[in-house]
Amino acid sequence: MPIIRRYSLLATGLSSALLLAACDHKTSTSQEAATTKAPADSSATTTTSTDSAATNSKVASTATSASFGKTTDGVEVRLFDLTNAHGVKATITNYGGTLTSLLVPDKSGSLSDVILGFDNVSGYQSPAFRKSSPYFGALIGRYGNRIKGGKFTLDGKTYSLAKNNGPNTLHGGTVGFNQKVWAATPGVSADGPTLTLKYLSKDGEEGYPGNLNVTVVYTLTNDDALRIDYTATTDKATPINLTNHTYFNLDLSRSKDVLAHQVTLPADRYTVVDATLIPTGELKPVKGTPFDFTTPHAIGERIAQVPGGYDHNWVLNQASGQHSAATVYEPTSGRTMEVTTDQPGVQFYTGNFLDGTLTGKGGVVYGKHAGFCLETQHFPDSPNQPKFPSTVLKPGETYHTVTAYKFGVRK
Ligand code: BGC
Repeated sequence: MPIIRRYSLLATGLSSALLLAACDHKTSTSQEAATTKAPADSSATTTTSTDSAATNSKVASTATSASFGKTTDGVEVRLFDLTNAHGVKATITNYGGTLTSLLVPDKSGSLSDVILGFDNVSGYQSPAFRKSSPYFGALIGRYGNRIKGGKFTLDGKTYSLAKNNGPNTLHGGTVGFNQKVWAATPGVSADGPTLTLKYLSKDGEEGYPGNLNVTVVYTLTNDDALRIDYTATTDKATPINLTNHTYFNLDLSRSKDVLAHQVTLPADRYTVVDATLIPTGELKPVKGTPFDFTTPHAIGERIAQVPGGYDHNWVLNQASGQHSAATVYEPTSGRTMEVTTDQPGVQFYTGNFLDGTLTGKGGVVYGKHAGFCLETQHFPDSPNQPKFPSTVLKPGETYHTVTAYKFGVRK
């Protein structure tokens, strides 16, 4: 798979000088200038940059770290706050590389959390969470979405994967990247505070071939985008499809569901699926169907016409280069979110399987449609669909994709 490094001007609105710095990976300039303050307690650290060229303001960007508790295996995991020059804050744990909270302003300038999640790692490991497997905020791999029958053939060899979703494999298998403890390094780049996460997925893990070295960098840019850079290399050919599974509710502090959110998806077709949500291979025009989001529609407007709710892959009109995957507007808060990516598809999932059995941050009960996901991706079951764009990464190649979620308001 030829992978070209791409950064989104749309998403980051960077000056060309900063863009070049990012492309050249000269982010060390401000990392070198970064200062590490003495921690307030022995378990907390702060990395700060007051690089005014980067922030265009006197306000510091910071990356701080604190304990997030211990996993059921007794491993202590950390929580990292990335705060940008405007006070926008993304909080990420190295357990599953999970985004646990995201504070963004509404139209009156008031900051509040717009994603579902828990206050402690135990929330992500509770029996109820494991049972419903919603993958809140997590990094998903080695293959996001479904692989039919948990099997694929590559270079003449058939591989059997762990099946964890009826007859199929979903989101990497029984223990996907969402349940791994990643090595984490906070920093501050020219674009804003960062968290670099690394994980080695060993040859044979969940049935996949090859040692896969994965690096994911979260950057909270100073123009209010959360950018995710995914990079990987392998020593054997393997399918790969990395994404993030955050559930958004842009009016979470007031609304229990996301049905009033207005969504635009620049996609004239979607992948038709069978009863187990495996694509049939047909790319069907959305025109005249409840899947047509080429102009803005409230999520709730036609959802009753879609059995089970939206849980489909839209075929983005633009398949390469950094392009729009979705635009979302929530009228009460005035918040907007623009999703840009270099991937050919997006899974728009409306939290259909949330059933009130999980209680998250602030005691909020997560019922049906409490959040929606926009999982940028290659199409589901691509390893078994020769007509879909290839997801095979070969030794010597570098997988690199970028998705950004940029926040704003409409008054
Ligand atoms: C899938 C859903 C699944 C959800 C949580 C989504 O990406 O498409 O079918 O229920 O993830 O597991």
